[in-house]
Amino acid sequence: MDQQAIVEDRPKPAWLVAEPWTDVNFGPVKSGKEAQIDLVERTGSDGRSCLLALKRYAPRKVATKGQLEEAGFERASTFRHDVVYREGRQFRKTRDRRAVERMSTYGKRLLQSRWTDHEFLVTKRLWEEGVPVPYPVAYGDDEYLLEFIGDATQAAPQLAQARVSDDDLDLVVDQIVEGLHGIVRAGFVHGDLSAYNLLWWEDRVWFIDLPQAVDLAANPQGLNYLHRDVVNICGWLRRRGGEIDAEELFAELVATAYG
Ligand SMILES: Nc1ncnc2c1ncn2[C@@H]1O[C@H](COP(=O)(O)OP(=O)(O)O)[C@@H](O)[C@H]1O
Ligand SMILES: [Mg+2]
Repeated sequence: MDQQAIVEDRPKPAWLVAEPWTDVNFGPVKSGKEAQIDLVERTGSDGRSCLLALKRYAPRKVATKGQLEEAGFERASTFRHDVVYREGRQFRKTRDRRAVERMSTYGKRLLQSRWTDHEFLVTKRLWEEGVPVPYPVAYGDDEYLLEFIGDATQAAPQLAQARVSDDDLDLVVDQIVEGLHGIVRAGFVHGDLSAYNLLWWEDRVWFIDLPQAVDLAANPQGLNYLHRDVVNICGWLRRRGGEIDAEELFAELVATAYG
């Protein structure tokens, strides 16, 4: 990873240390469906240090059409359709788009690299919008470096596993609602929103895991994905005793998106 990305529209976080830095990788601390998280301590030339998460993606699912189907694209044609919308604006060159649609070796390579940097770029937009997402630091071929949520003794628990008191549940509901408004304002849908892709740390909810996020307006399934996300998370919140109505929230979010 040779690039330190710069998010321009919002000042960089104060905890980010100065170049040149030294990174020490303490190894894996968490793993999810598709990725593994290593804890990295970065120490800057001024002696300050910060904790980063190195997300290492498992080998791409998108190697064959069969695997694409497993990944939720029902038919190759659906996949092609989806790619055009999801990635269309990134594959500007007709040659590249055709390669992806044909799933040639070159196309697969292109697609893989796009999926990798997609999470970084979406997170960057959300961070600029003020959505509570870990600050995106840099990305490489199959890796993505981001702010670590937690401290030197533990990673922040997923909301699903966190001990949230009844009093705090209202706070959680409010923060999720606010975060979702921010995400649609930025023009995106999370696409895999659940209590496993939200972290709870020091009374704050964090939205993570965004490689499948889609452009709300450009993706023909955008509103369906948004509805699915909202129903998912509201269902979980209600089972925990939270007061929230999925259809009402969905309507509010649509109003924010198109308002
Ligand atoms: N920035 C982070 N700080 C602390 N823990 C994280 C961070 N990002 C991810 N994790 C942990 O790693 C798990 C897997 O990461 P995630 O981005 O959800 O990938 P996936 O679920 O696709 O494997 C998360 O559920 C969470 O527990
Ligand atoms: Mg996850």
